[in-house]
Amino acid sequence: MDWEEAGKPGEAFWCLAEGRFGQRLRRGLRQGLRWDPFYGDAKSYAFAHGRVTASRIAIVNHMIQLNGYKNYLEIGVRRKSKMFEEIRCEHRISVDPDPAAEADYRLPSDDYFAQNEHRFDIVFIDGNHTGDQVERDLVNSLERLNPGGVILLHDMNPPTRFHARATYEIDGRQPSWNGTSWKGYAALRKKRDDLTMRVVDTDWGVGIVHQGNQERYQGACESYLDLARDRKALLNLISVPEFLQLYGVPLAKAG
Ligand SMILES: C[S@@+](CC[C@H](N)C(=O)[O-])C[C@H]1O[C@@H](n2cnc3c(N)ncnc32)[C@H](O)[C@@H]1O
Repeated sequence: MDWEEAGKPGEAFWCLAEGRFGQRLRRGLRQGLRWDPFYGDAKSYAFAHGRVTASRIAIVNHMIQLNGYKNYLEIGVRRKSKMFEEIRCEHRISVDPDPAAEADYRLPSDDYFAQNEHRFDIVFIDGNHTGDQVERDLVNSLERLNPGGVILLHDMNPPTRFHARATYEIDGRQPSWNGTSWKGYAALRKKRDDLTMRVVDTDWGVGIVHQGNQERYQGACESYLDLARDRKALLNLISVPEFLQLYGVPLAKAG
């Protein structure tokens, strides 16, 4: 059952706990104790590009450094200083339809893919947070991926059904939100046995998708409760140390 179907339980509590104050409190906990009940692992590790705190940015830069990637696409960028400018790649392109976003292409990702034929070594999907759109972003990105390339996705591991609610804003406020993005990832976990798909347990769940092979997921992926019941198997959830072990050599060599 999704949060909306359940009658939006605990709305006032969640708006307070995951509003600006709660977010600041958790950021402090994360920095001080390297612990955050929702975010996932926030400890430092020796990534390919150096020792840094685990995050979506660390995972992206690790894959770029290890594989010698040259071309990066970010779907959904908002402010470049938050992530895009931290990405250590020779050629970078960003796409975001918001007129206020600092994007190279101010377009929805569907239009960008329809109008351009660029190819990429690495794509980061963090745009529209609905399952259908994330599935389309994944399929379109796979078609534009160079051999040995990888797709990474944000917000794949929502910790509660509040975080996995359908819409961001509640009465003009914007408490922490992962949306239903995980459902787009789950759709390919069910359909595609020619891919390898994993989620790293840091920064709200960082998905990894590349050519490979997987046993298709057989369970239900309709609602948040399906995810909560079988999270590890549905997502193929791995820890940061497991990520570093699995992705310690270039992808083509890893097979
Ligand atoms: C969570 S923000 C991205 C944050 C950024 N990747 C970062 O890590 O700092 C999501 C962005 O996706 C954009 N967005 C929404 N729909 C989109 C679409 N169809 N295509 C591309 N971007 C979209 C929004 O305008 C918003 O700026």
